[in-house]
Amino acid sequence: PAEYESWAAEVRRLADERGAVVLAHNYQVPEIQDVAHFTGDSLYLSRVAAQTDAREIVFCGVHFMAETAKILSPDKTVLLPDHDAGCSLADSITAEQLREWKAEHPGAVVVSYVNTTAAVKAETDVCCTSSNAADVVRSIPADREILFCPDQFLGAHVKRVTGRSDVHVWAGECHVHAGISPADVRAQVAAHPDAEILVHPECGCTTSVLDLVSHGDLPAERTRVLSTGGMVEQAATTTAGQVLVATEVGILHQLRALNSGTDFIPMNSRAACRYMKMITPAKLLHTLRTGEGAVDVDPETAARARRAVEAMIAIGE
Ligand code: 13P
Ligand code: SF4
Repeated sequence: PAEYESWAAEVRRLADERGAVVLAHNYQVPEIQDVAHFTGDSLYLSRVAAQTDAREIVFCGVHFMAETAKILSPDKTVLLPDHDAGCSLADSITAEQLREWKAEHPGAVVVSYVNTTAAVKAETDVCCTSSNAADVVRSIPADREILFCPDQFLGAHVKRVTGRSDVHVWAGECHVHAGISPADVRAQVAAHPDAEILVHPECGCTTSVLDLVSHGDLPAERTRVLSTGGMVEQAATTTAGQVLVATEVGILHQLRALNSGTDFIPMNSRAACRYMKMITPAKLLHTLRTGEGAVDVDPETAARARRAVEAMIAIGE
């Protein structure tokens, strides 16, 4: 539509004028996913933020993502169009709680999901995202105890796929993914028995989906546990008629745009992250016009956090 075209042209013009790169997470509203220079999952966006030549990064995502970009590019300005765009998962552990947990397990290696504050990352040995969590845990010597935080469902999944029993998992969760339940899976699988199934490992239903696979109730070749970036890749090549998608519903926009021959169906259509949706087209434009919304991280915290994020980025490169 003409209204979208003129907004998008203005966003691109202002971004050029400012020397800014616009990054968007896969859960952003469709207009923002489409206008961004780069749209992707957390790991991909961290890599882009670390490597960009742009003077300024406009982060269309939530606060911890913009903080991560600032940690990786301390000399750049990182703008977040709404500072209230938080994350219930990042809120589920504080730096003080992590310090107390470390004191109970001296010598343990701390692995933190990127969905954490800069202060928690500063207390961390190596970060991970949903796409590399298992590789990060495998990179740690077998004789070391591991503290994994904050997501209990991703932690349980990592324990399962790595077979490591010495991983202690923090009991945090994302309210959106925790709300995609085993009951949703049972109902949707019964309604769409031939569908392929894509599950984000933060989901409360991950274990029950894999239990259905191991009991032979779901075919393993049609069931995948993936990051949002992994889902986008799978959507581009799948030949399935229907795909059930267990993650935040914002991703459906990209999946549908990539493959019009497949019907992408949410496992739970109420799984929307209100924090991700706080970044609206009007707020993005306001940010580009005014340069307001800079995210700052105390330099000492940033330096300690950077080691953990860079250790993650180095794994798998
Ligand atoms: P990924 O894009 O890494 O899969 O992250 C999912 C998420 O919940 C981010 O908030
Ligand atoms: Fe945080 Fe969950 Fe929203 Fe992702 S979907 S930003 S993990 S609250």
